[in-house]
Amino acid sequence: MEALTKSSVDTGKDSFPLNGTDYIEFYVGNAKQSAFYYQYCFGFKLVAYCGPETGTMDRASYVLQQGKVRFILTTAMQPDHAISKHVLKHGDGVKVLALWVDDAKELYNTAIERGATSIEPPKTLKDEHGEVVVASIASYGETLHTFVERKNYSGAFMPGYKAVDSPIQTKPVGLQYIDHCVGNVELGEMNTWVQFYQDVMGFKLLITFDDKDISTKYTALMSKVVSNGNGYVKFPINEPAKGLKRSQIEEYLDFYNGPGVQHIAIATNNIIETVGQLRENGVEFLFVPDNYYDEVLGRVGDIDEELEELKKLNILVDRDEEGYLLQIFTRPIQDRPTVFFEIIQRKGAKSFGKGNFKALFEAIEREQARRGTL
Ligand code: FE2
Repeated sequence: MEALTKSSVDTGKDSFPLNGTDYIEFYVGNAKQSAFYYQYCFGFKLVAYCGPETGTMDRASYVLQQGKVRFILTTAMQPDHAISKHVLKHGDGVKVLALWVDDAKELYNTAIERGATSIEPPKTLKDEHGEVVVASIASYGETLHTFVERKNYSGAFMPGYKAVDSPIQTKPVGLQYIDHCVGNVELGEMNTWVQFYQDVMGFKLLITFDDKDISTKYTALMSKVVSNGNGYVKFPINEPAKGLKRSQIEEYLDFYNGPGVQHIAIATNNIIETVGQLRENGVEFLFVPDNYYDEVLGRVGDIDEELEELKKLNILVDRDEEGYLLQIFTRPIQDRPTVFFEIIQRKGAKSFGKGNFKALFEAIEREQARRGTL
């Protein structure tokens, strides 16, 4: 994966070496139609498929790719399948945050020795293009991490999948790589999962936000960000904090029926072009009021972009000691108010947009009020 935080690369030996994110798998109610959404709206290219036509009788999976971002959309064929039960309980959501590794068996064994729960021991999948080793451990809620070792594989995705050419001509919108994936967990569980990533996967605690950093008049949350040794994999973990009304994290937990992935941040090199294209394609974003832009330059100083363009597209800006970043958040991408995307462009900044939290959470509260769930 692209070196996002080169200066944070550890010179010491990484006890849990990860090359980056391999793929993110969503369990969905209708993978065929979801695949259209990601192709038409987000400009992904369909690259591989498995299903009854390829000999996998119980499910269908569509592999979509853009830049280094790879999504899999999976649905089951029968109601008593574990995938169907997952969708019934959680709605469409993220099942697997897969990590690209050089030695899946070794990392799996290390994780288990350090206390991880096994979901699937290492297995080697083979076809005419070589072999892929996969192994999975449990994370928060029903979310998994699958370690994927693909150094001896040259096919489109992995054995069991067939390369496909979609009849749809998609236009990439400039999505480059996964910047971070955020999890929501129950009150009191944030530290448990931060500890899990530290103890089991050798991650380091990067940043802590308490409820004073992230609160509005009505709601609050707490967040800690952990990062792996080379800085390519970053997982913020949120838990709700007490406020006057129901926080967005509680709303998520109620509708997802437990902990899970809240948002996936995808990096672009040109957020104005990317967001302009996404909006044209019908992607909906959170609304930020015009007065946000009256104060933003006073807060962040000089930036390369035209303020008017950012205002037109509702893009947010924040600065830290190392530079600035531009970001924007979609509305939830399914009917339940659960998973959403962030589009982010980093111009030196390595932080997460703390200066935007208040404006952002007020925007989310307006949406909660519209849904009657605040
Ligand atoms: Fe984020």
